[in-house]
Amino acid sequence: QQQEQQAPPGYDFVVVANRLAVNRVTLSDGSTGWQRSPGGLVTALAPIMAASEGAWVGWHGAPDETLTPFDHEGMHLHPVPLSSEEVEDYYEGFSNGTLWPLYHDVIARPDFHRHWFEAYRRVNQRFAEAAAKVAGQGATVWVQDYQLQLVPQMLRDLRPDVKIGFFNHIPFPPPGLFAQLPWRHSVLRGLLGADLIGFQRESDARNFQRAVRHRLGHYIRSDKIYVPLEEPSEASSQMKGFNVDPSRGTAPRQLSAPGEGTYRIAEAKAFPISIDTDKIVELAAREDIIERARQIREDLGNPETVFLGVDRLDYTKGIRHRMKAYEELLQDGELTVGQACLVQIASPSREGVESYQQLRDEIELAVGRINGEFDSMAHTAIRYLHHSYPVEEMVALYLAADVMLVTALRDGMNLVAKEYVAARADGTGVLVLSEFTGAADQLRQALLINPHDIDELKAAMVKAAHIDPQDATRRMRSLRRQVVSHNVNRWARDFLDRLATL
Ligand code: F6P
Repeated sequence: QQQEQQAPPGYDFVVVANRLAVNRVTLSDGSTGWQRSPGGLVTALAPIMAASEGAWVGWHGAPDETLTPFDHEGMHLHPVPLSSEEVEDYYEGFSNGTLWPLYHDVIARPDFHRHWFEAYRRVNQRFAEAAAKVAGQGATVWVQDYQLQLVPQMLRDLRPDVKIGFFNHIPFPPPGLFAQLPWRHSVLRGLLGADLIGFQRESDARNFQRAVRHRLGHYIRSDKIYVPLEEPSEASSQMKGFNVDPSRGTAPRQLSAPGEGTYRIAEAKAFPISIDTDKIVELAAREDIIERARQIREDLGNPETVFLGVDRLDYTKGIRHRMKAYEELLQDGELTVGQACLVQIASPSREGVESYQQLRDEIELAVGRINGEFDSMAHTAIRYLHHSYPVEEMVALYLAADVMLVTALRDGMNLVAKEYVAARADGTGVLVLSEFTGAADQLRQALLINPHDIDELKAAMVKAAHIDPQDATRRMRSLRRQVVSHNVNRWARDFLDRLATL
């Protein structure tokens, strides 16, 4: 009773994400201001926040700077500070040097450092405390992504009254790979603090359930995980001085359906994310953007086939595989420069992480080699751009491209594939899509490929370049039906409605 009286009147809905929903920008008069982040997540959640008195807790992107909470376009923003050392150890280190490669099938080698995990735990605790401070009595708190997997249980310990959702935007690895993580039990227990744990694909949800069953021995039925209430908490294990693996050396207890009152239920299931379809469709119909698309093709010398790749410069995206296939097609004479052109947008990403620096060197070496060999004075083989572009330019590129190449080696979803489809309202255009993306579960009428199979990728690129227009239209119309009927608002609503029932 006393606690209830002391609780501050907080927000009904709180989103917790590594990044705040705004980016700092330099305004025309030279001063700095904030701009809403263009991503789908912010677009989907901003209206829900406005309607329900919501707050967003996240890092504002600069190290060693503490900001006071502020409002922007109807959103209440609560910045969480990170020191330069925490950016190195929590963000670049544990999040993007350990978890990112481990969760993406170990495409790059994950590094395991105890001081990285200590920083991850410390920063997760800070995010949990920030959320606990702003959430009203009985609020809904939605924690986002792999950088914050310990937050759900930390928050539950601080605020047992709130309803907690977690959504993992990236893949969840198969149990054999997850087993490599020295802190696997801490991560599972952290996630199980949520009432609802969402994943991109059914297979991700299954991988998580299998890890929980195998590592912790919890009983699971119909996506419901029975979490025993007397589990040793992370804090008590730490106090005993061992590294939070109480079952090490012994088989986990196998629980059969436990009795009433001895457990709580956490549900783990798939909620595939989507895009702000209306916005892309609207931009794709705008005269100035259609004109810009025409201009892009003209600037490229009006090739018959424009291939397009749009990715963060990340080793998971299969950019090298795509370039190898393209280079071989030029060598074989199946494609020729002038007749074909590959536009590759590689937006700068995580430039402080060594594996990303190496990747950039490799890609730029390959682009230089391919262009050096195949360019003519008039035409280029690959137009490579290491920049980020506003959404208007992206949509113009989607309209300019005959073939979209999404060749990721592993990807939680891949929203570029969905954006391309949304932009192609006239039913033209071909999507070549890696089966290792979450999007491949829904976009079955794309030309699905295994990007490791260079011959298959080459065949799909040739097929896409010469596709029978009727076949292309039939495929694109079916893809569009899927994307148009599943926008990101529906994703957010599905997740939050489910959470409300738990
Ligand atoms: O896909 C995971 C993700 O964290 C996205 O949410 C984000 O847009 C992207 O990776 C880039 O992440 P960041 O620049 O914050 O490391």
